[in-house]
Amino acid sequence: MGGSGDKGAVCVTGGTGYVGSWLIKVLLEHGYSVHATVRPDPDNKRDLSFLTSLPGADERLQIFRADLNHPESFDAAIHGCKGVLHVAAPMDFEDNEPEAVVTQRAIDGALGILKACSRSETVKRVIYTSSISAVYLNKSNVEMMDESHWTDVDYVRSELNSYISSYAISKTLTEKAAFEFANEHGLDLVSIIPPMVVGPFICPKMQGSTRAALAPIFGVTLRVLSAPSNEVGPSTYTSRERGQV
Ligand SMILES: NC(=O)c1ccc[n+]([C@@H]2O[C@H](COP(=O)([O-])OP(=O)(O)OC[C@H]3O[C@@H](n4cnc5c(N)ncnc54)[C@H](OP(=O)(O)O)[C@@H]3O)[C@@H](O)[C@H]2O)c1
Repeated sequence: MGGSGDKGAVCVTGGTGYVGSWLIKVLLEHGYSVHATVRPDPDNKRDLSFLTSLPGADERLQIFRADLNHPESFDAAIHGCKGVLHVAAPMDFEDNEPEAVVTQRAIDGALGILKACSRSETVKRVIYTSSISAVYLNKSNVEMMDESHWTDVDYVRSELNSYISSYAISKTLTEKAAFEFANEHGLDLVSIIPPMVVGPFICPKMQGSTRAALAPIFGVTLRVLSAPSNEVGPSTYTSRERGQV
């Protein structure tokens, strides 16, 4: 792998997704080797040419198969990397699965990835992609929230019961579990807290957030746009990082 100018390898989980595919593109442009994880595809039917045709991909992109349901499946992709960007997460706003299942998978997957990073002896920093939904669903009743605020899982469970409950609970508890592990094991972890990410996409599937942003223009009603409650939610939000960058 690599060649002159190679800055070392970085693992990106969820490489087929909206955010993950952009990260792969930008990392390749900046001279990194990328270990991208995509979900197993036993019949090899999935077209990954949007990744493999990126500039620099021939020389510096390796695709690995991994699934959060099998946390150890990320080990091979993490091996030899200096950094890991953990992005993969099911974006299910329709609560198709019970919250407990979604949350356990997300926690087990993240902890499996962090354990592999700890064992690796090469990973210097892990970036976890959290979400605004791990911050603003609480009763703090302030106009502006930052990274010191956390979603109140009990409040979401007992009072909110909205379209976003499973997602918000899983993002909150996974981020907390990840920091607990990182603190106990001396792992350098940074959590990015994006609000709604919109804009051009290089993956084939239009992501939920972009669909939601376009819905009012096309007159489409989406559950994701029905605000959970007007008693929660910041009027202003700045995306910040939890941890030392
Ligand atoms: N988009 C936003 O507005 C937004 C806002 C805040 C935070 N985020 C966070 O950003 C991250 C990426 O979101 P996105 O918008 O890029 O979503 P996305 O396009 O749906 O990408 C999600 C990625 O996760 C993968 N994935 C889902 N379930 C998996 C599993 N069981 N095992 C392994 N991989 C799995 C998906 O694989 P498949 O392609 O096979 O489904 C896909 O590659 C998520 O952690 C999300 O919580 C996004």
